[in-house]
Amino acid sequence: MTGVGNRVLVTGAGGFVGDHLVAALRRAGYEAVEHTLGQRGVTPVGVAPGVTCDLRDETAVLHMLRDVSPDAVIHLAAQSSVAESWQRPGETMAANLAGTANLLGAIRDVAPRCRVLTIGSAEEYASPSRGSESGSETLDEDSLCMPANPYALSKYAVWLLARQFYAAYSLSVVHARPFNHIGPGQRVGFVVTDFAEQLAAISRGEHEPTLSVGNLEAVRDFTDVRDIVRAYVALLQGGRAGDVYNVCSGKGLSVRALLDMMIAVSGLRVDVRVNEAKFRPVEVPALVGSAAKIRRELGWRPGLPMRQTLADVLRSFGCRGV
Ligand code: GDD
Repeated sequence: MTGVGNRVLVTGAGGFVGDHLVAALRRAGYEAVEHTLGQRGVTPVGVAPGVTCDLRDETAVLHMLRDVSPDAVIHLAAQSSVAESWQRPGETMAANLAGTANLLGAIRDVAPRCRVLTIGSAEEYASPSRGSESGSETLDEDSLCMPANPYALSKYAVWLLARQFYAAYSLSVVHARPFNHIGPGQRVGFVVTDFAEQLAAISRGEHEPTLSVGNLEAVRDFTDVRDIVRAYVALLQGGRAGDVYNVCSGKGLSVRALLDMMIAVSGLRVDVRVNEAKFRPVEVPALVGSAAKIRRELGWRPGLPMRQTLADVLRSFGCRGV
């Protein structure tokens, strides 16, 4: 452990990434204090191993920070679905932007020497210019940001807030920009889990062998969540304060190619039906990152092969024969 005290508060620890991150922190010898979402207006009581608090409640956040007195905070808690952000833009902004503002304000007030990792998104970037939608143009940390949906806007605002608190109060904040992460434990509503749920039902004979899918033309950069959380621990330990780091594989994959891989791994014969009701009002055509900076500075690179991740997800949904 370099430069970071032992007690790490993980906000949103009950979510998909949280489970994996808490395990990784504990393996690395940290004491991970798990925060989960609480009720608005309810002041949290008690500390380790877990705390509950609604991050939209400024006073409750302050109490939580005082109670936990962390050496570091990894801020995972968020409304993380692009699709849902179109349905509930206000809630997305409140959870992601107000939640982060309350957290950073409380850290400044009661734990100013705390090390902080904020989690942004590849969605903060503008999609590469037309003509490079095959994913051949990768986005690095200097690429233009131009959020194209409410979720993306909320995450870009998190980055701007992190920079402001670094500049104004020398808060030791590092910002991660993860690209798509997948793996066991992710809830339905994301592309891999939506496909896995249907394939598993087909494998058990509970569903006709037809898969309903959204836009297959989009290109994304997928990384296993277990690799992503290793990057978060490395960034907490060695990322430069006030700076931003992509976390990604550097490889673009179309959703169509992803679907073909999942069908191959499942061993099933299925028909595919494109359902336009599943399309987004605005789709970012391609988001493929460059991981050169985090690799150069911290030596991180992803390790788990895509087929293994997809097999693990299919198994976690009870897909027969995988
Ligand atoms: N969810 C979903 N379900 N997406 C589908 C489907 C489907 O049935 N069919 C096609 N897609 C397409 C979407 O239109 C999108 O282009 C792509 O698959 C990935 O969609 P999601 O898995 O929902 O993720 P996302 O790219 O919108 O956002 C994820 O990645 C971001 C980083 O790039 C989330 O994990 C965000 O939290 C994360 O910040």
